[in-house]
Amino acid sequence: MTRPLGITVSRHIMDSQRLHPAATGDLTGLLNELIVAAKTISAEVNMAGLADILGMSGKTNIQGEHVQKLDEFANNTIKRRMARCGYLCAMTSEEEADIIPVVEGYEGKYTLAFDPMDGSSNIDVNVSIGTIFSIHRRLSPDGGPGDESDLLQRGRRQVAAGYIIYGSSTMLVFTTGAGVQGFTLDPSVGEFFLSHPDIRIPDKSKYFSINEGNYHYWQEPVRRYLHYLKEEDKATGRPYNGRYIGSMVADFHRNLIAGGVFLYPRDSKNPTKTYGKLRLLYEAAPLAFLAEQAGGRAVTDDGREILDIEPEGLHQRVPVIVGNAHDVDIFLEFMAEKR
Ligand code: AHG
Ligand code: MN
Ligand code: MN
Repeated sequence: MTRPLGITVSRHIMDSQRLHPAATGDLTGLLNELIVAAKTISAEVNMAGLADILGMSGKTNIQGEHVQKLDEFANNTIKRRMARCGYLCAMTSEEEADIIPVVEGYEGKYTLAFDPMDGSSNIDVNVSIGTIFSIHRRLSPDGGPGDESDLLQRGRRQVAAGYIIYGSSTMLVFTTGAGVQGFTLDPSVGEFFLSHPDIRIPDKSKYFSINEGNYHYWQEPVRRYLHYLKEEDKATGRPYNGRYIGSMVADFHRNLIAGGVFLYPRDSKNPTKTYGKLRLLYEAAPLAFLAEQAGGRAVTDDGREILDIEPEGLHQRVPVIVGNAHDVDIFLEFMAEKR
């Protein structure tokens, strides 16, 4: 069988780098190393049911959640590979309490924040999961290790962000600030090929994604907004269809491709009533960058742009409303009691 000649992700990244004559190639090198880690994790995910890697490791991470074995594998794979890639000065992972140093002598000019395995409660039930990453330029002077302040930067300052979704096929979706590109892994040759160039969120939305089990814990305007989405109105395409996987990557990916809005607002289950569930550095900011680059919008439930939030801690949580800009705008009108 002959295959059509596809554009590999490395080719694509190198071609984009050519448009920036001043570029040193470090970001290219960094992304390429990350892609190797992603392919390693993808292979392991596909073997998960066979390799006795399923199930709990018995440990609890700093967020107080059970850590599953595939989380550990993904975390270690990224950590070990990226610690000596030569392009990073510091890393932070959703699975680790503290900043992750890079190997001495291998310090570079970027930082990496990652959620090694997003949607880990779905591992045991064979439902899509993913890896999310966010890259910043360090603030401290080049040379030597980076520190926490290099990692605590606004999402607006990301130089690249994206995710790998382990679904019916493995896809890599990322942005370097010039649109969103999607690549699909051909496992038979071990390469990601450009399959979704210049992704734009469709103008018309089809879906809403929210954990409706939290209905009674939401603020009243959130409940009214959900009610609105379910009302019949042909002109605005309502009612929307409800779809919720419980892996943010997968819910986001579907809505990015097919049109829709994903919500994880604050709820009264959280004692402070201030924070949502999702993490700013590992989930909210990278997906907000992708959303904006695809023509969408990402805000908190009190109307702050996710990309403008100044992080206060590595594991800070925020309410997240992300998707089609029109849907996000209407959500905020409900929150402001204008509807
Ligand atoms: P993680 O598996 O990295 O801890 O993330 C799970 C997150 C996110 O992926 C998902 O959207 C959300 O938690 C689901 O939460 P609920 O089960 O509360 O709906
Ligand atoms: Mn996650
Ligand atoms: Mn995770």
